[in-house]
Amino acid sequence: MTTNAQTVTETERTWWKEAVVYQMYPRSFADSDGDGVGDIRGIIDHLDYVASLGVDVIWLNPVYESPQHDNGYDISDYRAIHEEYGTMADWEALLDEIHARDMKLIMDLVVNHTSTDHEWFQRSRERDPEYDDYYIWREGEDGGPPNNWESFFGGSAWEYDDERGEYYLHLYDTSQPDLNWRNPAVRQDVFDTIDWWLQKGIDGFRMDVINLLSKVEGLPDGDPESEWVGSEHFIDGPEMMGYLEALDEQVLSNYDVMTVGEMPQLTVEMAREYAGEDGPLDMAFHFQHTKLDYGGDERWAVGEWELSELSEITRRWQQGLAGDSWNAVYWENHDQPRVVSRYGDPDEYRAESAKLLGTYILTLGGTPYVYQGQELGMTNAEWASVDDLRDVDAINHARELLEDGADSYEEIRDVVGYRTRDNARTPMQWDDSVNAGFTDGDPWIQVNGNYERVNVAAQAASDSVLNYYRDLVALRNDHDALVYGDYEEVARDDEAVCAYTRTLDSERLFVVLNFSDSEIPVDIPEVDGGTLLLSNYDEETRAAATLAPYEARVYTLA
Ligand code: GLC
Repeated sequence: MTTNAQTVTETERTWWKEAVVYQMYPRSFADSDGDGVGDIRGIIDHLDYVASLGVDVIWLNPVYESPQHDNGYDISDYRAIHEEYGTMADWEALLDEIHARDMKLIMDLVVNHTSTDHEWFQRSRERDPEYDDYYIWREGEDGGPPNNWESFFGGSAWEYDDERGEYYLHLYDTSQPDLNWRNPAVRQDVFDTIDWWLQKGIDGFRMDVINLLSKVEGLPDGDPESEWVGSEHFIDGPEMMGYLEALDEQVLSNYDVMTVGEMPQLTVEMAREYAGEDGPLDMAFHFQHTKLDYGGDERWAVGEWELSELSEITRRWQQGLAGDSWNAVYWENHDQPRVVSRYGDPDEYRAESAKLLGTYILTLGGTPYVYQGQELGMTNAEWASVDDLRDVDAINHARELLEDGADSYEEIRDVVGYRTRDNARTPMQWDDSVNAGFTDGDPWIQVNGNYERVNVAAQAASDSVLNYYRDLVALRNDHDALVYGDYEEVARDDEAVCAYTRTLDSERLFVVLNFSDSEIPVDIPEVDGGTLLLSNYDEETRAAATLAPYEARVYTLA
């Protein structure tokens, strides 16, 4: 249950609890030099836009040196900037420009694995004694890999390396070998790297698949039926908490920074340990609400989703982390298809449903994260040919589905096209000029076909999705109850409408959201005498006793 609403004292106020985070995918944000790839100078050119949203923190996806097999999640040098993105001097200018606008910068930390191009891996495969044990090398078994673990991107998690004559573990792409965290030298090298970035003045980290660092001794076979074979032996492993506690104690606690862990299969119970009052991290991303539209447990199948299930997940996390732990709230990131195309209506009610979905995450407890383009109501794109895909995950899966008997791409196009991470990675839509104003060159990935309609320049009007997001951020800044208040659900198990209150002291806000494309009568005794603070419809509609399709309203109650 929630605790009793209390006043927030000045000492309890925490900047990262009050912050709204904007996530930027550098490859797709803005290209300043016409090579078709977004870059740091492009970001600097658009910082006034980001500041105009009212957000406080920017999370920048990886910009480190990388062969880009997984768009920067395969790092070959942790202390260098990827050439296509610019130089270290550009990055330093970016940090200064962000700080000059009173915003903060958190960087992506990818230390479960490196790239096979990383010097550590090169020396490890040569059995250089210093690096021999930096990765997880094993002999094969019975002419095959050492165990049955699977890569998240499909196929075995093991790759045979001719040079070393052994298999190495890669929980993601073959180009992303897992570091051996049991080796103290690896931990020290990683801690030093983290400290090096913190000394440069950044404000924290988003930590990539950070609950995967500890693998169970002996690397036993996993349950062959499980969703990700082997995961019971490498998610939240035995040393996990110890590694993060050491990181916190030795490095993080020396700085006033925020940390958010990305944690596959995270439960409320584990989140309380990782991000409770004494936990090593500030908050963590879970994935439960991003799986509602899976077909069964299957990621590469599309199923119907239900609002009651979403509400149940929200209730579990909002109430489960009330008190001394903190939520990270999001719909989109660079790995998720566009939310309007999943839980909204991208055709008839694109703008309305985008605003409704925005209302949800910006009125819940926890720190909200908004992904670039979400504030415009960007949608999934069409993926007409397998050649249009850039996402290593989608390409691998398309190949697998074809090998497993699909006749042609046509047959798997709907599911691959719906789920591919490329949906989030199409260029940011700035205006209706060629390539949406993203680049003068050939974009590295196709631009969404709707860019002439959906773009920043076209959303100058006060009733645009963009300006509604600005209003939402402002609303959150104006009402402590939206940040620190208790969450209480009002309507339960409804398949169309969800409603909840956020209460702090004498202030009680009431949020009601119609997730359907039908008109729904509102019978809300709570709002009698309350004042409407925000709605995504015009004045006449918002005053009616009926909720319009995808209508969202936020009231303050007397
Ligand atoms: C995380 C990243 C994703 C990446 C994977 C491997 O899930 O968000 O983009 O592919 O980790 O690093």
